Amino acid sequence: TLIRREDYQAPAFWIRTVDLTFDLDPAKTLVTAKMALERNSAVAHGPLRLHGEALNVLRVLINGESVSFRQDGNELVIDNAPDADFALELRNTCAPDKNTTLNGLYTSGGSFFTQCEAEGFRRITYFLDRPDVMAVYTVLLRADKAKYPVLLSNGNLLESGELPNGRHFAKWHDPFPKPSYLFALVAGDLVAREQRVRTRAGKDHLLQVYVRRGDLEKTEHAMNSLIASIVWDEARFNLPLDLERFMIVGVSDFNMGAMENKGLNIFNTSALLASPATATDADFGRIESIVAHEYFHNWTGNRVTCRDWFQLSLKEGLTVFRDQEFSMDMAGGASARAVCRIQDVRNLRSAQFPEDSGAMAHPVRPDSYVEINNFYTTTIYEKGSEVVRMYQTLVGRAGFEAGLKLYFERHDGQAVTCDDFAAAIADANPGSALTTRLDAFKRWYSQAGTPHVQARGAYDAAAQSYTLTLSQHSPATPGQPDKLPQVIPVAMGLLSHEGQALTLHLQGEAAAIGAEHVLVLEQPEQSFVFINVACAPVPSLLRGFSAPVILDDGLSDAELLVLLQHDSDAFNRWEAGQRLSLNRILAALRSGAALQLDDAYLGAMRAVLRHPQLDAAFKELALTLPGEGYIAEQVEIVDPQAIHAVVESAQKQMAAALREDWIAAFEANQVMGGYTPDPVSSGKRALANLALSMLVLEAPRAQDSVWPGRAYQRFKDAGNMTDRLGALAALVNAHAELADSALDRFHELFKDDPLVVDKWFALQGRVPEQDGKTFARVKQLTKHADFTLKNPNRARSLLFSLCMYNPAAFHRADAAGYVFWAEQVLALDAINPQIASRLARVMDRWTTLATPYRSAALEAIRRVAAKADLSNDVREVISRALASV
Ligand code: ARG
Ligand code: ZN
Repeated sequence: TLIRREDYQAPAFWIRTVDLTFDLDPAKTLVTAKMALERNSAVAHGPLRLHGEALNVLRVLINGESVSFRQDGNELVIDNAPDADFALELRNTCAPDKNTTLNGLYTSGGSFFTQCEAEGFRRITYFLDRPDVMAVYTVLLRADKAKYPVLLSNGNLLESGELPNGRHFAKWHDPFPKPSYLFALVAGDLVAREQRVRTRAGKDHLLQVYVRRGDLEKTEHAMNSLIASIVWDEARFNLPLDLERFMIVGVSDFNMGAMENKGLNIFNTSALLASPATATDADFGRIESIVAHEYFHNWTGNRVTCRDWFQLSLKEGLTVFRDQEFSMDMAGGASARAVCRIQDVRNLRSAQFPEDSGAMAHPVRPDSYVEINNFYTTTIYEKGSEVVRMYQTLVGRAGFEAGLKLYFERHDGQAVTCDDFAAAIADANPGSALTTRLDAFKRWYSQAGTPHVQARGAYDAAAQSYTLTLSQHSPATPGQPDKLPQVIPVAMGLLSHEGQALTLHLQGEAAAIGAEHVLVLEQPEQSFVFINVACAPVPSLLRGFSAPVILDDGLSDAELLVLLQHDSDAFNRWEAGQRLSLNRILAALRSGAALQLDDAYLGAMRAVLRHPQLDAAFKELALTLPGEGYIAEQVEIVDPQAIHAVVESAQKQMAAALREDWIAAFEANQVMGGYTPDPVSSGKRALANLALSMLVLEAPRAQDSVWPGRAYQRFKDAGNMTDRLGALAALVNAHAELADSALDRFHELFKDDPLVVDKWFALQGRVPEQDGKTFARVKQLTKHADFTLKNPNRARSLLFSLCMYNPAAFHRADAAGYVFWAEQVLALDAINPQIASRLARVMDRWTTLATPYRSAALEAIRRVAAKADLSNDVREVISRALASV
């Protein structure tokens, strides 16, 4: 059934306290819940309806007396609940071992874990499983001591001790009222890295990172990231750690990256464990940002939570914004910050923009859903973060900090809405560019789809004025045919054709305003006139990607070259390079003629590569071509094979034309000494790896056997995973013979480390397709002894690599890729609907496919739809795909 935002009703009852007792047993766990309930006097008198799923109820008592109840679908209904406050006691069992959904209470590697967001708590006991019901929890855990020596739950440990029959217990209490989705328990044979810290307020805290025996040495980076996060949140937003103890636990079977349960964060091991030998620079960066993200949720999510799940971006958009700011501050200097920003924007454009124009397009605050788990999306998270960033752009950094302060003053301990957040930021900044147009700004929450902005400039030499005309329109999305104009902050500057920054002076203003300014576009079309402009300028617009829009600035190649060389905004320098590449790729796709990269373009790319001042990390980003998925977004009708062919040709030409420069770049970017994942060293490794892959790619044409040999040597001798995997990828992409032996060796070396075996599968799923070999290999790998659909990381590593990140291997004229997809979606759905549904989303954009892909895709989608007992998760995604004809 469809849940609608406008149907929100406050709960008929509140649950104030919960006492939970768990007798943990993998086959049958006994749960006893004693709760203090009261009626919500603001809501009409009615029955008590509790959510429950896959539970076996044993007894229900009210004030100690058994009471009659009935089952209505997934709800347990008590028709005559008392009017006065009362005690409700429930006893039920659940089966953690059989729970392959990884939602609720489940076992992984012989230990117990929980995942309760969004609606997993109802798989533990009957409850008002909604975020606006906040209770104080006391949790008693009882289990076999030898098998489960560690017993954890939220908050502080009250007592622990022995029980008869080799069992033991631990009792936990969390003083902060919380919604059920933040409940967690862990029981197992785990070990912890511990660290004590003293916060600014002078309080002592115990930090712990729990993992399986043997993984302890891979937790140092996570612990350091946690400490850095605690320090940062106090310094930047004045938000302290509020518990005596803060725990993180790693688990190998987990649907998402991690979960912010109060005081007891649970992490996918892929987002937690790192050592130089097993994790790449990208892994180190991702771990730092996810540890920070979950820690930051303690204030933005836990202390102030969501009233209902339509408000999910209230906590997720804000917390992604906070973790992005943290990562930028950790990176250090201006250039490293720009690199962070470029990576964030690249992710947004390659994942969120397609979502926003596909079958599952939805606003940052959705209006309806069938399965809330389908809405943990890049729109809620990453576009939500861009919306928060625009608040900051419109009120300034200090204004935003004041707004956040007011938000916590008003709402600490409450479950609130996106409107409450908007009001707090606006009220703290009266008269600001945000507050004066708040209603229009809030369309960012209600309108789906990526706005298109067009910019055209006209220079009047006689008047020495420059008129910049900005216009906008937002495309129709499912259920939203017409859109109103959005409030779009456009950070900008003007450059002379020689690359000098010009001073900006807006007509009507008394004085000039410096070299950079934020224009606010809010009408369908607006003109801005700059005066005292001595020469025809090159506009640098949307600096730092100041709004999540698609910009058409109409700039010529010559103008883009000026920006690439001279823009003071590093993001726009990078963007100019991407646009130069894109223009050429799109022209080839449109004409159907072979791509021929011109000297002007190659010369510009060479100049970037040789540039004495630019950082290696920036060079690597600038010299990486736009992804095939992003290119597909730029054309009306998508032929994945044609796109792949053009990109491959562009790569080969870059490899050939810049060969000497790639050699120089490789040699100049060797990192000596011990491994650290800092931005400078990781930037050098990234550029050296790109250079190496270019050199191996060029080897056959250049009749060169030296560079493939060097790549193999580097693969064998590498002192860290970044270099090893980089060399392996270079071979796998372009040198089949050496690649096979290297892949075997890699597996042999790391066969006991699941996270590295995931990399091994992922790499093979992403091999550039040639004559169907990659597709055949992936099918073969599904039969490998190490492959399983039961572990989400493993399923993702192979299947998502092929279906999401390897379009040319997946979209086959014989439709075999789609048949494979349908089989895997159905097989996964029987095990884990959340992962199945994510794979199902590969078909979001099927309507844009060219013949014969389009009809073949439709057939595969129909095949999945025909399955009678699909999960709600997959059913919703598939129905929306079918509705988008
Ligand atoms: N709140 C978690 C995070 O972003 C994500 C948990 C989502 N879980 C789910 N089943 N949808 O940090
Ligand atoms: Zn989150």
